[in-house]
Amino acid sequence: MTINRQFRLKRRPVGRVTRDDFDLVESPVPEPGEGEAVVRNLYLSLDPTNRIWMSDQPQYMPPVAIGEVMRGGGIGRVVASRNPAFKEGDLVNGLVGWQDYSIAGGPSELFPPTVIPDGLPIPVTTLMGACGMTGLTAYFGLTEIGQPKPGETLVVSAAAGAVGSVVGQIGRIMGMRVVGIAGGPEKCRFITEELGFDAAVDYKAADWREQLKAATPKGIDVNFENVGGEIMEAVVARMNLYGRMPLCGMISTYNDTTRPRYDISPFLMKRIRLQGFIIIDFKDRYIEGSMQLAQWLVEGKLKARETVVDGLENAPETLNMLFDGGNTGKLIVKI
Ligand SMILES: NC(=O)c1ccc[n+]([C@@H]2O[C@H](COP(=O)([O-])OP(=O)(O)OC[C@H]3O[C@@H](n4cnc5c(N)ncnc54)[C@H](OP(=O)(O)O)[C@@H]3O)[C@@H](O)[C@H]2O)c1
Repeated sequence: MTINRQFRLKRRPVGRVTRDDFDLVESPVPEPGEGEAVVRNLYLSLDPTNRIWMSDQPQYMPPVAIGEVMRGGGIGRVVASRNPAFKEGDLVNGLVGWQDYSIAGGPSELFPPTVIPDGLPIPVTTLMGACGMTGLTAYFGLTEIGQPKPGETLVVSAAAGAVGSVVGQIGRIMGMRVVGIAGGPEKCRFITEELGFDAAVDYKAADWREQLKAATPKGIDVNFENVGGEIMEAVVARMNLYGRMPLCGMISTYNDTTRPRYDISPFLMKRIRLQGFIIIDFKDRYIEGSMQLAQWLVEGKLKARETVVDGLENAPETLNMLFDGGNTGKLIVKI
């Protein structure tokens, strides 16, 4: 291939993302400048945070500028290099962007890509999911902020997704009673029968509040929050004294233009500790976390489900799957 296709952000989406929010620009494949490497992108990691980066709401990294290539994580192979840190043939993991080819080693890089060691005993795509960014989010969010204890009850929302499915499995490894909240009977079956969660709550069922009550007879000690909105409020209402709440995400609000308002009095009355976090807070411990997750994967204690969609050209529509619940486990575009 001699052409590089790039999705450049044309305008800030309002509500759901559409193809028209981007220009799909074609240009020749770049040559590496001094200190740079050219990477043929192979996989894109599609993440709810892509939607946040498209907006100009206050956030933890600069928003993607209008006209800029859409930022996104992924994996690629070095095809040309003028940087000793990258040699031709290396697989790399990093912010490769929504494009066929990317440049590694550039001076303005926010997070330089890392070279993936040869001969790993795990599928390379898990370095975007269960053993990579989303798995690390689950691991550090639960173990460091959730402070799990055996016998306690953990509730996790978006439980059949990339982060949630790993949170619940780690909770089981830590000896917790794990309840997952997910949309629809198939996802509820997946988390209980295939992943070993103790119970599932189908939030799309009319009686989901009763299901939550029945699944948490001793209340809730840790709420790993991925969704926000009325699901979060219902979970918080069932939390125990001195509960912990890692606030990982609020996906139910990312397509909204107004910010929700919540009653925070339960946090006072029940002395609940709420802490938001972003995985980059733990960047110095990525290797430690990835090694632990990979070990669990190899031992069969952790299962890594992926939903893979073909074609860079489908990236914008595919992102909406995260908001429609079209994915189970990690959502990936194969370029
Ligand atoms: N803090 C961090 O560093 C960090 C890092 C990664 C991810 N996150 C956050 O973690 C959460 C999960 O991310 P992920 O990458 O693992 O995505 P994911 O869970 O694989 O996909 C998103 C899932 O959210 C559920 N969902 C979407 N809209 C919903 C709504 N209105 N109400 C209830 N559920 C809804 C859908 O599942 P159903 O079919 O069950 O509805 C969907 O499959 C997101 O909030 C994300 O922003 C945070």
